[in-house]
Amino acid sequence: MSDESRPSPARQAPATRTNTPTAAVIPAAGRGVRLGPGAPKALRALGGTPMLIHAVRAMAASRGVSLVVVVAPPDGAAEVKNLLDTHALPEWTDFLVVPGGETRQESVRLGLDALPPEYDIVLVHDAARPLVPVDTVDAVIEAVREGASAVVPAVPLADTVKQVEPAAAPGEPEPVVATPERARLRAVQTPQGFDRATLVRAHETVTDDVTDDASMVEQLGLTVVVVPGHEEAFKVTRPLDLVLAEAVLARRRLNDGF
Ligand code: CTP
Ligand code: MG
Repeated sequence: MSDESRPSPARQAPATRTNTPTAAVIPAAGRGVRLGPGAPKALRALGGTPMLIHAVRAMAASRGVSLVVVVAPPDGAAEVKNLLDTHALPEWTDFLVVPGGETRQESVRLGLDALPPEYDIVLVHDAARPLVPVDTVDAVIEAVREGASAVVPAVPLADTVKQVEPAAAPGEPEPVVATPERARLRAVQTPQGFDRATLVRAHETVTDDVTDDASMVEQLGLTVVVVPGHEEAFKVTRPLDLVLAEAVLARRRLNDGF
């Protein structure tokens, strides 16, 4: 991309933030209702290791990340602290554990509240995306360092998407309202990266329910930019996603063997 075609926040932000301390906030306080009965989703095992530990390691794998703030299930903070004490992280990464809230948004805000002042760049990463590759994490950090206020990793869609009028009663067919052009749509993932002050302001200002942090920054009228995401950064939401996650881990083990 040429300098002229960069979005405007790149021109307003400091020229270089190469050494800006970066922290990752990991909301992990959800129940995982769609995954079915069992332990809170972030504590369920993948390849014998809790999903949360995979997610923490995925963030800590980036040399740019020097602090990970885990937002634990409200009644599970001690257990999560214990888990982190017993699973090694790279020497350059510290961690903190705070109890979460009722909604993802509230959990992220509680994580932000716990951030020490020196961290000027913040990543927000779902514990439910345990397998995001380090290259994706690095690409997000790099884009924020280059001056973007908000960065999201995203992938093109395989399915065509229809906008519908939700059914008036359960079981009624739903009329299609529109078909957005698929080539212009992206499925967004995490980690999403932010200039810390921007994300804090977004959380102070926006009170609507949202499903990602970048949309709060959009509501402030600021530009959010997209970098390429990765198919392995998918979110573990339903039981079939666990099957896929185990398969990805098995493939990694096989490749590491060669
Ligand atoms: N999350 C959180 N606090 C909440 C709700 C969600 O920290 N009150 C976190 C989840 O732990 C997860 C991420 O936000 O890492 C994305 O949410 P989602 O995939 O919806 O997870 P859950 O809310 O746990 O799942 P479900 O919606 O099926 O209950
Ligand atoms: Mg949820």
